[in-house]
Amino acid sequence: MSKPYPPPEWETAGFNHIWLPYTQMQTAPLPLPVISGSGVRLTLADGRELIDGIASWWCACHGYQHPHLTKQIAKQLETLAHVMFAGLAHEQAYTLAHRLVSMAPQGLNRVFFSDSGSTAVEVGMKMAAQFWANRQEPDKRKFICFRNGYHGDTMGGMSLADPETGMHRTLNRYTPEQHVFDIPNNRADLTALAASLKKVRETVAGLVIEPLVQAAGGMKFHSPEMLAEIYQLCKEHRILFIADEIATGFGRTGSMFACDEAGITPDVMCLGKALTGGMVGLAATLATEEVFEAFLSDRLETALMHGPTFMANPIACAAANASLDLFEGEPRIAQIQGIETQLREELKPCHKLEDVIDVRVKGAIGVVQLSDVSGEYILELRQRFIGEGVWLRPFSDVIYIMPAFTISSAELTRLTDAVFKVLTA
Ligand SMILES: Cc1ncc(COP(=O)(O)O)c(C=O)c1O
Repeated sequence: MSKPYPPPEWETAGFNHIWLPYTQMQTAPLPLPVISGSGVRLTLADGRELIDGIASWWCACHGYQHPHLTKQIAKQLETLAHVMFAGLAHEQAYTLAHRLVSMAPQGLNRVFFSDSGSTAVEVGMKMAAQFWANRQEPDKRKFICFRNGYHGDTMGGMSLADPETGMHRTLNRYTPEQHVFDIPNNRADLTALAASLKKVRETVAGLVIEPLVQAAGGMKFHSPEMLAEIYQLCKEHRILFIADEIATGFGRTGSMFACDEAGITPDVMCLGKALTGGMVGLAATLATEEVFEAFLSDRLETALMHGPTFMANPIACAAANASLDLFEGEPRIAQIQGIETQLREELKPCHKLEDVIDVRVKGAIGVVQLSDVSGEYILELRQRFIGEGVWLRPFSDVIYIMPAFTISSAELTRLTDAVFKVLTA
């Protein structure tokens, strides 16, 4: 493929050896070489600058290279870059666990660290299945999940994805079969879900849901009231409620955690992505004391057998502590409210466009849903956005904006203008 600039040396040397994510390597355009990031701006090797409208898959919530984050990471690097977390402890992890418990929905008292969102979901599933096994109910080991759901790329998480439209459908035969339902929209749907749960509850360990926003499965929203109702059904039917807040956690939907809006405390909550302000990989699975206590006995067999080598890495935990400092010290929630108001106003004109079937906004998430579109059209849209100087990555049938919370009003307008312009072109 021809390129508009002389490629940097590392790109020429490396490209033929790289295997890219979610990419058909035979036909995909070359990725853009990035040399630096600052705030919401990415600088490319040829000097062009892009405004990032999706915060590197929604994790860089304070923008790139926030000075407080880089400083705290550098400071930690001077004393302890890594140490194993079995039999040894360190301040950053313990401080972080304490801070997470203080801010999470009340009752989530225990924190298990891991290294990616997918792993946090696997850990949550293991906690739920073993919770019942330890309580002498080993038949309760399946999961309930939802159409349009996405919970990561490892086998357990893949088994929870939408089996028909999800990106993992090719591997359906290799993952455990789960019970898949629609997220209810109204009372009748809810009654139907209740009846289904009643039928399957003796074989079910947990229900896994992306609270309020199903992200990678199509940016679909449901209400806090519906979330609270689903939670109640789980309580009635003895099913652990697992909130996958990997995309929604840390302010994205307008409150610190999406579950806060429904006033619920999940039995298990998975966090990742923005946990470190997007600086370095880290994830956490939080559990209530009731879940934790089911693992206590005088036998190793009832313990949680999980321990990634890099769990609770000190640099990652220092980044997460620094990110929490920013949530405490800078007006993030107010900024998110400002982004929400602006997205509502500025995406409104898209309603009128022929190809647009829905425009929806929740917190710092703006979505423009298109009528039936082809994969080629989506790829073309991506290229056009680059031409407009913005980094947006439509997928499936949606164009979405999920920027860093620190984005300025003018920068956000550049993104919404680009969406309107590209769709009208
Ligand atoms: C809701 C949800 N769960 C899990 C994951 C997986 O996280 P990771 O990519 O860090 O493994 C994602 C990633 O997009 C996600 O959105």
